[in-house]
Amino acid sequence: MNTFRDKVAVVTGAGSGIGQACALAFAKEGAKVIVADIAVAGGEETVRMIKDAKGEAVFVLSDVAKSVDVNSIMTMALKTYGRLDYACNNAGIGGPAMTTGDYREEDWRAVIDVNLTGAWLCMKYELEIMQKQGSGVIVNMSSILGKVGFATASAYVAAKHGLIGLTQTAALEYATQNIRINAVCPGFIYTPLLEKAGMKIGTDLYTQISNLHPMKHMGTSEEVANAVIWLCSDAASFITGHALMVDGGYTAQ
Ligand SMILES: NC(=O)c1ccc[n+]([C@@H]2O[C@H](COP(=O)([O-])OP(=O)(O)OC[C@H]3O[C@@H](n4cnc5c(N)ncnc54)[C@H](O)[C@@H]3O)[C@@H](O)[C@H]2O)c1
Repeated sequence: MNTFRDKVAVVTGAGSGIGQACALAFAKEGAKVIVADIAVAGGEETVRMIKDAKGEAVFVLSDVAKSVDVNSIMTMALKTYGRLDYACNNAGIGGPAMTTGDYREEDWRAVIDVNLTGAWLCMKYELEIMQKQGSGVIVNMSSILGKVGFATASAYVAAKHGLIGLTQTAALEYATQNIRINAVCPGFIYTPLLEKAGMKIGTDLYTQISNLHPMKHMGTSEEVANAVIWLCSDAASFITGHALMVDGGYTAQ
């Protein structure tokens, strides 16, 4: 497929799970991809997978919570490929499972720093390029937990709710500048993030969480990537400020 031929996409947290699936999906559509991640092995693996499929990609080692690193992602996009058409601000962490009162301040700050401030920093640099270019599409990776609460995940829930508000606000600000900004809200998707949170396939928790979805199973990273690609495509040309649920019905209950 060549829908995105000659276009350039940045994906943060592209070394694993949903971000990796998004990077592969952009490349499959013909885009050149900037693979950004704090983890070298995963980032390089994603680039290798894209190149094996005859796509183009480069890896940038970066922590989205650090302004200087985020600047280097966007500089790499411009230096290597000369433009930036799509950005999927996906990097995120889960944080420890604890009730709100027991949450440690450093854990709270770490989750907000990566999941909310990190996405805002990315937008700040992406928007500067897109404004000059006169076009662009941004998709922020929120969650069902950007719409509803989840006991023991207050920092994550606060960050993902904040990300939807940020998405809507920026969408209003740039609506007349040919820049669309949306969010995707996945249900539980089986990735290393969930494994780290103790939801490995075969455990009781995995079954319990799967059953929270009306479809009675978790989603796949590819199903989320499909939504990201669609929101970036011209098929979604009148859609901005939207939070698209990709959740097997979780939030319809
Ligand atoms: N898996 C789910 O069920 C689910 C559901 C809803 C939303 N999400 C969101 O989707 C996104 C991706 O999650 P995933 O499940 O693929 O997780 P994952 O742990 O598999 O991948 C996350 C990637 O982000 C990278 N990363 C972490 N901190 C970073 C930082 N500071 N700077 C740059 N890269 C960083 C990690 O190295 C990793 O490669 C996250 O924002 C997450 O909150 C996940």
